[in-house]
Amino acid sequence: MLISNTITSHQNQENNMLSNRVQDALNEQIKMEGSSSNFYLSMAVWAEENGYAGVSQFLYKHSDEERFHMLKLVKYINERDGKVIIPAFDQPKSSFESVKQLFEELYKHEVSVTQSIGELVGICLEEKDFTTQNFLQWYVSEQLEEEALAKTVLDKIKLMADDKSAWYHFDRDIAGLTATSIADTGGAQ
Ligand code: FEO
Repeated sequence: MLISNTITSHQNQENNMLSNRVQDALNEQIKMEGSSSNFYLSMAVWAEENGYAGVSQFLYKHSDEERFHMLKLVKYINERDGKVIIPAFDQPKSSFESVKQLFEELYKHEVSVTQSIGELVGICLEEKDFTTQNFLQWYVSEQLEEEALAKTVLDKIKLMADDKSAWYHFDRDIAGLTATSIADTGGAQ
């Protein structure tokens, strides 16, 4: 009895381990989230240098959120007794033609993150790792909100064009904008 319990427990432990393929893909996502955090940080610095206080506040805050996304993956791999690799990050872009161009790049970036999460979920399904697949649903929802947020901001920017007063209000209001507040209002307005 004792031996059979030991064997079952050992098997469970083995079954609970991440496959190499899932572990590698999770580590790749750690790199992506960490790179996102640095990208947002770099955009925040540019916005601050160019006098967009509200935009920079929004971006600094978002940089922290991306770091949280990275840490959540780190903790998850550790919980599953996997091996976390903290990677070297490429230097993010540091100069932009305009706030509009910055948000165009930001939106494109979020679309690529969504794609990467989708591929990761696909790998989990192929590997029959339903625990990780379930864990990743949080990222799937988060990406939906982040894309909606980026799209909303971009739409506002397009509407404002060169209206200086609209830009003043935009820079004041964006500081309080978050992915959750956009999701609560049902997306772009
Ligand atoms: Fe965590 Fe916006 O990607």
